[in-house]
Amino acid sequence: MSSAVAPAFQPVLDQIAADIAARPGRGRPADYIPALAEADTSRFGMAVAEPDGTVYGVGDWRHPFSAQSITKAFTLALTLALEGEALWEHVGREPSGNPFNSLVQLEYENGIPRNPFINAGALVVTDRLHALTGDASGTLRAFLRAESGRQELDFDLAVAASEAAHGDRNAALAHFMASYGNIRTPVPELLEQYFRQCSLETSCADLALAGGFLARHGIRADGSSLLTRSQAKQVNAVMLTCGTYDAAGDFAYRVGLPGKSGVGGGIVAVVPGRCTLCVWSPGLDERGNSVAGVAALDRFTTLTGLSVF
Ligand code: DON
Repeated sequence: MSSAVAPAFQPVLDQIAADIAARPGRGRPADYIPALAEADTSRFGMAVAEPDGTVYGVGDWRHPFSAQSITKAFTLALTLALEGEALWEHVGREPSGNPFNSLVQLEYENGIPRNPFINAGALVVTDRLHALTGDASGTLRAFLRAESGRQELDFDLAVAASEAAHGDRNAALAHFMASYGNIRTPVPELLEQYFRQCSLETSCADLALAGGFLARHGIRADGSSLLTRSQAKQVNAVMLTCGTYDAAGDFAYRVGLPGKSGVGGGIVAVVPGRCTLCVWSPGLDERGNSVAGVAALDRFTTLTGLSVF
């Protein structure tokens, strides 16, 4: 962090919303999941949650959207909390430099995905969480409900079914890794868990609050510990290097924060020790990251000076 003075977040958010409204070009919604293809790209919301749970927002910050790959940051944290370092025998932590649904590295690397945030890596993490808890997606939903305080937070089973009906790529990844012994859950059951996880309907407020533990060095909203300080640092580090896929370098350059995007158009970002942000706008760039979302986070770190650099 470069600013010692606490900025007033509400005027900053109002300024960002005005800047984004004046900006042309919003990208296109994800169309490979038909249930997401009709999303309204004029939507925009942003929330900032402070470590004490105070939350500020602007625009559509309470409007639920499909969390999609943002959930991968939470399943990583939950699995790391339960399994510790042994997790890294099954998934790496290096940027892939490839699209989020790419198959190409998996064969060269013997069925061990590069990192937990590409789809292959997320399938491995969900498999491990499912084996540890008996219900990976239910465990994740319970965690998000507890941390956001919104008990109605739930799956959108129509989105999960839509993705399942077009899920050949994820099925291929899962079967391929199973052939290396790196997946233990039967593949159809694992895919159902993964699609449910991705379909969670969350608002910017929900995710900014639920990601609070990453700004609080591993401490949950109720004061209990999910992760050690060192593990919270590790999750933030993997978000910084891998959270936006083959755009992670550009995201670090423009925003300078750990971040995790999803094809629903959301992005969660963390200023360790200071706040957790979530921005949403469904229009994506060609690498699957929200165009207005990245622009808004870029404005946030520029206006506030809050960054890890
Ligand atoms: O598995 C998929 O393709 C989607 N459920 C999630 C992908 C995603 O969100 C990638 N993020 N930018």
